[in-house]
Amino acid sequence: MNKQPIGYLDSGVGGLTVVKEALRQLPHEKVIFIGDQARLPYGPRPAEQVIEFTWELTHFLLKKNIKMLVIACNTATAAALSVIRPKLNIPVVGVILPGSRAAIKATKTGNVGIIGTNGTIKSDAYARTIHRKNQNIQVTSVAAPKLVSLVESNEYQSVIAKKVVAETLAPYKKHPVDTLIMGCTHYPLLRPIIQNVMGDGVTLIDSGAETVSEVSTLLDYFDIANDDQNYHPEHEFYTTGSAQMFDTIAGDWLGMSQMHAEKIDLKRLIPQISMEMEQ
Ligand code: DGL
Repeated sequence: MNKQPIGYLDSGVGGLTVVKEALRQLPHEKVIFIGDQARLPYGPRPAEQVIEFTWELTHFLLKKNIKMLVIACNTATAAALSVIRPKLNIPVVGVILPGSRAAIKATKTGNVGIIGTNGTIKSDAYARTIHRKNQNIQVTSVAAPKLVSLVESNEYQSVIAKKVVAETLAPYKKHPVDTLIMGCTHYPLLRPIIQNVMGDGVTLIDSGAETVSEVSTLLDYFDIANDDQNYHPEHEFYTTGSAQMFDTIAGDWLGMSQMHAEKIDLKRLIPQISMEMEQ
């Protein structure tokens, strides 16, 4: 019986789509979430910088005594998973492999689409992961950076959102797919609009939701799950940006009216983390 928390990190509120699924699938596992809204978006940043930021968030979570780390951000997974995983002595889970697996399973025509940030699409991480398993799958990748700002500015249900999503997904008219990976943890908040634009015949893959199934499997594999059904954890949410904006979106998305995220002062945190990383 292991009551240590599971740490989740993202560049912003997008990782909450993973947390939402975690709360549903693993209600007795304590969540500690950090969103780096002060430095969002990660998508246009060079991979080296994304690795640096991801390390900083990881160190913050390690101080909270987490038993597993979930990189609930595709951009950070693409850049930093292979760097961070071998350096930690706890399991580290990214979102790209579970999403790729689910897409391979779902597609019938062998035509899979991927939408993600510029960083994720440029890394080609999804296509490489899919082709490592099945080379016959035709992958059509489209960068969709504007969708992130729609979510972070709480405009994901607006008329503008519909227009932006339709414009972004236009390439799939020329290259039809039967399965589309929402390869950015922010996108599931736009799911109804994306589904509407793509049509009912297209299966949408939520990489974050798929990731939680992997988390669940690994908890059992490493025998670190909390089996105490009477444990109702008090989850912790942190942001480097505006706690008020975080509370509004997170409260709405997670259905937690009493949501209170704590704002982390990066300026104070980073020198301390850098010193620890050098030791
Ligand atoms: N949520 C992040 C992802 O899954 C990206 C958002 C950003 O550009 O920071 O890729």
